[in-house]
Amino acid sequence: MSNPLHVVVLAAGEGQRMRSARAKVLQPVGGVSMLQRVLLASAALEPAVVHVVVGFDADRVRAELAHFAQAHESPPFNCVEQRERLGTGHAVQQAIEQIPDQVDVLVLPGDMPLIQPDTLQSLRHAFLTQRAALTLISFKAEDPTGYGRILRDTDGQVRGIREQVDASDAERAIAEVNSGVLMAADQPLRQALARLGTGNEQHEYYLTDCVGLLVADGQTVSAVVCADADETLGANDPLQLATLEACWQQRATRSLLRQGVRMPMPHTVQVRGTVVHGRDVSVDAGVIFEGRVELGDDVHIGTGCVLRDCQLASGTRVEPYCVLEQSTTTGACVIGPYARLRPGTRVAADCKIGNFVEAKNAVFEAGAKASHLSYVGDARVGSAANLGAGTITCNYDGQAKHRTEIGAGAFIGSNAALVAPIRIGDRATIGAGSVITRDAPDDSLTLTRARQRSVS
Ligand code: UD1
Ligand code: CA
Repeated sequence: MSNPLHVVVLAAGEGQRMRSARAKVLQPVGGVSMLQRVLLASAALEPAVVHVVVGFDADRVRAELAHFAQAHESPPFNCVEQRERLGTGHAVQQAIEQIPDQVDVLVLPGDMPLIQPDTLQSLRHAFLTQRAALTLISFKAEDPTGYGRILRDTDGQVRGIREQVDASDAERAIAEVNSGVLMAADQPLRQALARLGTGNEQHEYYLTDCVGLLVADGQTVSAVVCADADETLGANDPLQLATLEACWQQRATRSLLRQGVRMPMPHTVQVRGTVVHGRDVSVDAGVIFEGRVELGDDVHIGTGCVLRDCQLASGTRVEPYCVLEQSTTTGACVIGPYARLRPGTRVAADCKIGNFVEAKNAVFEAGAKASHLSYVGDARVGSAANLGAGTITCNYDGQAKHRTEIGAGAFIGSNAALVAPIRIGDRATIGAGSVITRDAPDDSLTLTRARQRSVS
């Protein structure tokens, strides 16, 4: 039986080099904060408690944790306040006081969003089988600048970690570096933390000094070399953040391609959230997905579209340059080019929503069409109804929103204004250019136009 696992996520730093008012760990990668991505990866180990060390921008970090706990089945969180940022060792000192005896501790930096659950599992496995006091994840850096270097003796045993600023030239040449992730039994970690000093260039308490202290006590420290160095990338500035984003996007689009999604230019597609999909889905260049997007079989998304939190039924075609948010299609239909579907729009089978049509909180029943230049808000458009070019639902009187009901088979002439609240009957026809302020009956022509005259 292994001990219960307590995770410590380091999230107190300001991340000065990010030049942001927000805590660094709140910066998004793939549409989700780095902090959330780290929490997701660590959740796979089923920890007993996740201790998050907060400091800079603590309120927003706490809010992000609450948000995460709502959206995911997560282990309990414990926020640990680090009032002064005296270094990574100091941060873990604050957390360890709140951690019970007889547990294993996993320390994770909050700015390492690409770390994979499998990698953390193999760390845990190595820690348990090698019976070391502390096991860390290292990796071979192409450019080790900025990282702590792993010092090994002639037998290859880990002896310590030297931070960049404290390293000699010879030590700086070492390519194996510290990822910042480590696992230790609580007891040796506690003892090492208690003995940390600040005798270094930065006058900080270095978590990494625990390694040398444990080795000096005759304890074993081991390192698992992470094969995929990308996973351990951290983000200290916007440039590194963009690099992480590119890595994340490449993974996301590769995984979609492997699952059968056709993308002629995958490197131009951005997944800022989650995409679930059926078979024979195609996504053209420059599409952005945000939040949770569900695409049925045979869905096609044209170039330049932005889809946020949408569900599109099988056979839906979204032509180029559409923006869809919290919208649903319930059957095969065509949207765009250049359409904007705002929250609460539902489009049924055989509908056509054409260019420069904006819909909001609007239901289009089967076969309804709005092919050009319309605003349809707070409305139901009955089956097979046709909205002519320039049809406007005047849903807002300056104070409140009102509903428009358009009956099945109705035909609205071009450039009609329907002043809500209003009901247009089934199979009603509205003359082009009319301003309709009262209900229009079924099966009749209603128009409000002055008679045409020509005067010479
Ligand atoms: C740290 C490691 C280094 C490793 C590198 C990997 C130390 C001393 N050095 O350096 O060996 O190669 O990570 O990226 O640990 N934080 C706090 N409180 C503090 C200071 C930091 O919570 O007082 C948090 C930060 O928010 C961040 C994490 O700890 O999430 C790491 O801190 P950072 O300053 O980025 O450490 P590095 O200098 O990158
Ligand atoms: Ca860092």
